[in-house]
Amino acid sequence: MTELIKITDENSEKVLTKAAEIIKTGGLVAFPTETVYGLGADGLNPKAVKSIYAAKGRPSDNPLILHISNTTELIPLVKEINDTARLLMDNFWPGPMTLVFRKSEIVPDVISGGLDTVAIRLPANKIARVLISHSKTPIAAPSANTSGRPSPTKAEHVFEDLNGKIEMIIDGGSCSIGLESTVIDVTDDIPVILRPGKVSFEDIKKVAGNAAYDKHLTEKIPVSNPRSPGMKYRHYAPKGELCILDGDKKGIMNFILEHYDESTAVITFSEFPIDLKNVYCLGKFNEPDECAVKLFDVLRECDTRKFCKIYALMPNMNGVGFALYNRMFKAAGGKIIEIRTN
Ligand code: TXA
Ligand code: MG
Repeated sequence: MTELIKITDENSEKVLTKAAEIIKTGGLVAFPTETVYGLGADGLNPKAVKSIYAAKGRPSDNPLILHISNTTELIPLVKEINDTARLLMDNFWPGPMTLVFRKSEIVPDVISGGLDTVAIRLPANKIARVLISHSKTPIAAPSANTSGRPSPTKAEHVFEDLNGKIEMIIDGGSCSIGLESTVIDVTDDIPVILRPGKVSFEDIKKVAGNAAYDKHLTEKIPVSNPRSPGMKYRHYAPKGELCILDGDKKGIMNFILEHYDESTAVITFSEFPIDLKNVYCLGKFNEPDECAVKLFDVLRECDTRKFCKIYALMPNMNGVGFALYNRMFKAAGGKIIEIRTN
């Protein structure tokens, strides 16, 4: 049985002490972070880490992020911390950013999926940080979803996927960002973005003076051997067929009306209201932060309601909007329909 506990100011110390005890004894606890819920285990206990892969049904060559509660915990886990890494840490930790370093000997191979690097994150969410510090170990935590499903942004999403497979779920409410952290390789002087997130290309460039996207993020062809192994798997996939619609409003509206039936859902923005039955509004087009929070919840809802086709309008790609687009693009398996009426 999985214990689902809502955390409050009154019970938090008791709940987090119990959760830390589960982690220390090799069990699995799902917990909130500001990005998405994580599925945590003792990151230095290979057997516990293996049980994460089993609970999620995750391929074992896809490495995990180690979560720490303060920067001093980073030192034993990595070989070196260069100036680029320090600048990024000083500016964006604690927060929605994961850095990839060369790993030290104490990081088990099962964490790094056979790579000589390790991904580390210092989250801002207080529940996450207290859990890590009470556990007295770095916590390995992928997103707490079944592999291939949208990442969980609410405790209910975790329960839906992992009830019966893990010891405890800490319900800390909805995640404030709603998309996974920006993953940045800092093994070289130029920071390379492996997965876009709330900390954007522009944010990184401003601080580090330089930034690059890993090439799979800007090219539309599938990469067979990406630097971030997670990139080769089909992620965030709703059960129905998702297509992104790009083009002018009139053309898009005509396309939707032509293809719409009872089994179709449409994902849109408030500036582009659509008067049909199964329409989900992510928020204002010009406020991608607001839209990012809702995306995974809406994709899960589309699964629950068993829509066969889902049409999603192209989002604003500024700031976190690029991450929003990246997740939609992956959920769509790369399908974008361009519609121009003139
Ligand atoms: O926001 C987040 O990052 C959430 C919360 C729970 O922290 N975690 C998360 O973990 O999204 P996960 O396992 O679902 O995604 C981790 C990503 C994967 O794409 C993985 O391939 C990449 O980070 N990654 C992990 N270790 C890596 C490494 N050593 N080198 C390159 N990429 C790595
Ligand atoms: Mg994930």
